[in-house]
Order: sequence, then structure tokens, then C-alpha cells
Amino acid sequence: HIPNPPAPLPAGQDGLKLVNDPVHPFIAAGPTDIRGPCPALNTLASHGYLPRNGVARPDQLVTGVMEGLNLGNDFAKFLVYQAFLMNGNPLTNLMSIGMKTPETGPDPPKPALVGGLSQHGTFEGDTSMTRVDAFFGDQAVFNETLFQEFIAFSAKYGFNGTYDLNAVAELRNQRLLDPIATNPELVFTSPRILSAYSEAVFPTIFFVDGRLNNRQLTIDAARHFFDFQMMPTDFHRQPAPVNFTLVNPLVNEIFNKHPFTPGVNHGKNNFVLMPNTPALSDFCGIYEDIVLRVIPGQYPNPNGHLKKVIKKNLDFFFDAVSAEHNCTQVFPYGRD
Ligand code: HEM
Ligand code: MG
Repeated sequence: HIPNPPAPLPAGQDGLKLVNDPVHPFIAAGPTDIRGPCPALNTLASHGYLPRNGVARPDQLVTGVMEGLNLGNDFAKFLVYQAFLMNGNPLTNLMSIGMKTPETGPDPPKPALVGGLSQHGTFEGDTSMTRVDAFFGDQAVFNETLFQEFIAFSAKYGFNGTYDLNAVAELRNQRLLDPIATNPELVFTSPRILSAYSEAVFPTIFFVDGRLNNRQLTIDAARHFFDFQMMPTDFHRQPAPVNFTLVNPLVNEIFNKHPFTPGVNHGKNNFVLMPNTPALSDFCGIYEDIVLRVIPGQYPNPNGHLKKVIKKNLDFFFDAVSAEHNCTQVFPYGRD
């Protein structure tokens, strides 16, 4: 039986708080500690909000992002169970926040991947801001050249050189245009489109000190999270739990500045639109695409205990989806 994610922290425990505190000191990842493509989870692991070895249960991830960065419980569960279903081991209830590792235990039968968060073409995908596309190299590791572009766009478009929503909109657009021109194997379809646009906005919320909370991320703070995997000195988390209701309008705002249609490259500079993959605005369509296409791609015909635990995780995932979206639950393996 998979343990339920813990209940939200009790009232009064979800406000502004010093999170780079003495109980959560930064300790750089050691040689056997796993880090991956997500700057937030890397940082939380390096501060002990997640297991420092980078292998965690979904409920630990939910708790870690709530405590360390003040994600709302539903929003945390949405991200975590989506990732866990694609990249975790449902039999052992463990997921790597980076590369595939034996530390997550014996795998379920193929085509299950249990690849960890670095697994390309699952949650991880193309057009990241500070990681190269898998076609060009290591898709999980921080890339200084791309970070220089992040700085340049913040200087050009952001208030006082910060990464603000203006800079987000321009950089996010550029990070699609460049791979269209250069990556012959670019894939930019559901569900990647949603994470790409959400992750562009996240730093303006979660990486900004909660005492200031002005949605203007300084380059120094960005350098800490993205590169050093470290919270800035004295860092305070968001003053209130952040849910879809806060994030979605910001995602819509940057999308509307530079709308796009999902698609894939058939060779460089040959972006073929895929109007049948759900659009960014079609949240329930993306939910259904994950549940009816992506997950069964790895678990086409699960049996017995495996089927039971996958269905449990699909229920956790839908709980999070339904908290703020009016989607209908879909059942790839039947209702009972
Ligand atoms: C990227 C997972 C929470 C910020 C990613 C990626 C994964 C991931 C798999 C790689 C996608 C890619 O760029 O190809 C998760 C999971 C979370 C989580 C499972 C569970 C709660 C957060 C939070 C933040 C965050 C709370 C807050 C700032 C980012 C950013 C990127 C990213 C900024 C993009 C990095 C880049 O484009 O260079 N995350 N993430 N994530 N994540 Fe997370
Ligand atoms: Mg990527």
C-alpha cells in the first residue's frame, strides 16, 4: 500500500519563514548524491528538505516542496505524481530526481523506464532554459552558455536587470525559436509544453525571497538556485501556499505575448505543427494525454500489485488535478 501524501501542514505553519535555516544547511552533493534537471528539487535536496542522496518517495517530495518553497498541497501533488508516474518506481515507491539508479530498487517489466527525472522525453523535454536539448548533450546539467542568455534577456527585458514576467515571456519564446532552428529532433508537444511554460514562470515566484515577493528575480538569486543548487543566505520562502490559481494566469500572460502551436521538427528548421496534441490552454486535454497515452506507453498492461499501485498513483494525480480544474477522471486500466 502506497502511503497517502501527508496532510497539508497545520494552520499557521504555511506562512513566511526562513528556510535557509540552521536545521537545513547547504551541503554540496557528494559523489554518490544524485541531482538532475530541476533546480528547485536539486536545491531542496542540498538543504535536506529532500533526502540528500536525491532518491525520494512521492510523499517526501510533496512535503519537501511545501516546507521548503511553500507550494500548495494540490499543486505539489500535481507536479510530483505526474513525475512519479512517468519516472518513478511504483513497486518500491521511490524516484530519482536525476539519472536512473539501482537505488530505486528492482524495476517493473519493460517498457517501464523508471528513468528518474532526467529521463528524456517524459517530464524532461526540449527547450529548457538552462539545460541543453538531449540531442546536443546532457539534458540534466546546468549549462553556463544558456545561463548567459538568461542573464542577457533579463538585462534587456526585465526591470532593473531582473528575471521578471517580461523577461520570462521573451526568453521562453526564444528558447523555442532556437531549437526550431537547430535541433533536428525537437519535440514540443503535450505534456512538455505545460512544464516548459510553467517552469519559465516558477522562478519569478518561488526563487524570490518571500519578504520581498515582487516577482523580480535577481541574477544573484538565480545563480544560487540554478547553478549552485543553494538557497541564498537568509532566504525566506513564499508568504502563502502557491497553487494553480496563482500560477495559471501568469502562464497565460506569457503565452499570450508569444502564442505557439505544439509541434515537432522533421529536421532542422522544419517545425511541423501537431494540432491534435492538446494546446497549452487545454489543461484537461493534457491531463488525459498523460493518463491515456503517456503512462500506458510505459505500462501497457500492468497486472496484480503493479496495476493496483499505478491506479493508486493515478488517483492521487487526479485528486490534485480536480482540486482546481474541472476535468473528468479517465481510467486507462478500468475503474476497479
Ligand atoms: C525543470 C520536476 C518543482 C523549477 C524541471 C524538470 C523536471 C522537474 C523533470 C526538467 C524539465 C526540463 O526542463 O526539461 C519537478 C518536480 C517538481 C518540481 C517533480 C515537484 C514539485 C519545481 C518547483 C520549482 C521548479 C517548485 C520552483 C521554482 C523548475 C525550473 C525548471 C524545472 C525553473 C526549468 C529548468 C530549465 O529550464 O533550465 N522540474 N519540478 N520545479 N523546474 Fe522543477
Ligand atoms: Mg529539458
